[in-house]
Amino acid sequence: MTDFSSVKGKVAIVTGAADGLGKAIALCYAENGMQVVVSDINVEKGQQVVEEIKSKGGEAHFYQTDISKEDEVKGLVDFAVATYGRLDGLVNNAGIAAESRPTHEFSVAEFDRLMAIDLRGVFLGIKFAVEAILKTKSSGGFIINVASQAGVLGNSSMATYASAKHGVVGLTKSAALDYAPYNIPVNAICPGTFRTSIWGQAPEEVISQYAKILSPNGRLGDPKEIGHLALFLASDLARYISGSAILIDAASHAGKVTPVQWAHPEILE
Ligand SMILES: NC(=O)c1ccc[n+]([C@@H]2O[C@H](COP(=O)([O-])OP(=O)(O)OC[C@H]3O[C@@H](n4cnc5c(N)ncnc54)[C@H](O)[C@@H]3O)[C@@H](O)[C@H]2O)c1
Repeated sequence: MTDFSSVKGKVAIVTGAADGLGKAIALCYAENGMQVVVSDINVEKGQQVVEEIKSKGGEAHFYQTDISKEDEVKGLVDFAVATYGRLDGLVNNAGIAAESRPTHEFSVAEFDRLMAIDLRGVFLGIKFAVEAILKTKSSGGFIINVASQAGVLGNSSMATYASAKHGVVGLTKSAALDYAPYNIPVNAICPGTFRTSIWGQAPEEVISQYAKILSPNGRLGDPKEIGHLALFLASDLARYISGSAILIDAASHAGKVTPVQWAHPEILE
């Protein structure tokens, strides 16, 4: 029987874990016996996630980090090692979205800010975490970078975000080659459209309208589904998967949809 018990006791940092996909990953890791450093720029919500994990019997600590700042990311990794004695994995999840506009209308400052958080932050995470994973002699190290479907496809009106996320996929592939000899798989998760705070206070009808347009299976992704993929990638079951950019998008980016009349629709009855 296949099971995920290899993750039990592993020490992992999850960035951007106060909300959305990062929170779902942190909760899933803790539910499966991992020791989690919940990291986010948002202290209040990050601490709430730690309380939720502890109330369910899990193990977690919070550490505030702005992932665009070198000394803070180093401090985060040092904190994980000081707290748990080692580091096994990092999920570079924190990121921000950009406004939609044509490429020439983005300011240089907007481009630089997005790069600093969505790309440089991922580089900093890999840099310090890999050093700690190697130094503390983890036997089950892993790096997961949360990119986006915009990391593998161009997106109109999203030049800054798509550039950063393509950069994340490039970092993933290069780092995967660097660390494959040391048994540290490095992969990117590329979500389609998930139900997170991105949607703000949008009414349910609007969200389901969008889901029909954006997703061939008619619904937005549930953040828990990202948690399950991140759990698999953290486990020893996935150690032969490295350097991959894994789309999780219900076929949204598999190709063109051509409407066709089924000859035998009664099969669905
Ligand atoms: N939700 C989606 O549909 C979707 C799709 C594709 C990719 N993504 C990617 O998934 C990741 C998570 O997105 P989400 O939808 O959960 O967003 P979210 O806004 O719900 O959560 C992001 C978290 O990151 C934190 N954060 C922001 N800037 C930070 C910084 N500088 N340092 C540390 N923490 C910071 C926020 O405080 C927040 O808790 C992002 O990298 C995003 O680009 C999301």
